[in-house]
Amino acid sequence: MTLHLIDLFCGAGGISEGARLAGANVAVVVDSWADALAIHERRHPKALHFNENIGDVPAAEYGKLLRTRVEPFMKPGDLLHVHASPPCQAVSIGNTQNRDVESARELMFYTLDVIAAVGPTSWSIEQVNHPVVRQMFEERGVEYWTVRMRDYGVKQLRTRLFAGSGWRLEDVPTQPLPGLGAVRDLPPDTHYISDRFHQVYIFDYKLGLRTPRLVVADDAPLYTVTSKPYYFYDKEGFFIEQASVQFLESVQTFPQGYITQMPISTVKMMHLIGNAVPPTFAHALIGTIVKLGGPKAVRARRNTK
Ligand SMILES: C[S@@+](CC[C@H](N)C(=O)[O-])C[C@H]1O[C@@H](n2cnc3c(N)ncnc32)[C@H](O)[C@@H]1O
Repeated sequence: MTLHLIDLFCGAGGISEGARLAGANVAVVVDSWADALAIHERRHPKALHFNENIGDVPAAEYGKLLRTRVEPFMKPGDLLHVHASPPCQAVSIGNTQNRDVESARELMFYTLDVIAAVGPTSWSIEQVNHPVVRQMFEERGVEYWTVRMRDYGVKQLRTRLFAGSGWRLEDVPTQPLPGLGAVRDLPPDTHYISDRFHQVYIFDYKLGLRTPRLVVADDAPLYTVTSKPYYFYDKEGFFIEQASVQFLESVQTFPQGYITQMPISTVKMMHLIGNAVPPTFAHALIGTIVKLGGPKAVRARRNTK
């Protein structure tokens, strides 16, 4: 029995890479960004890659098309999982009322309709952890969970909402957090900014002021990796260096060089790394679905942890 994956809005493949590590077959992937898809294709050459804009074709029709594309891979008894990470930049604090939120919402509902039309044995959607998104999931009556990536061995404060069916978050095994040494060698007295533990003063070169910040020690999660730069400070709060893109790649749990050995600009690398689902979590999630061996009865209860 094989689990086949359709990965919608696949990016460079955080979900796909996790699925591959879990022994799944990455079958069909879609993204409208050619650079992301090119990287994905180099890392998952056996998958069928489609550079297209999701949302252009009526949902029922698109779902059927995806089903047709994946069918040649499937044998009787095989599992089919659809994952989707529709873009979520519009949904952020302070941007809850405008047209962009409306289009994010439309795309989310469209995606849910596409998944229903594919008719997989399980599915998942990943989104930012925001009340607007919770409301969308509640409106559609789908079950969702808040995933704290640090509970799954990802050394970050990153949290995401996952909706889905055919699995439940409590089935996914938690994992210990690695020490900072697991992702990078730093001098012993190096600390880094986070939102816990000691307060120190950081010199802000633009303002010419020392401003209070908090720093953490080796066994605590780092800040969420995004496409923005990431800085290290010492115990006194003095700037040490900007984290390398290779460091961000490993904090995001990609294998070394998965993105950073590709011939694209650092800015694009940062985007692909920052937007990804950490493969370590994807591995645990898809591995759990494979282990469950088929759709699991989904109870009506919603768990917002
Ligand atoms: C959050 S990222 C996906 C990350 C991915 N799941 C991973 O784990 O690496 C969203 C992706 O959606 C793509 N995208 C945005 N709008 C799209 C659309 N309408 N159709 C297809 N892809 C789209 C972007 O190019 C981007 O790569």
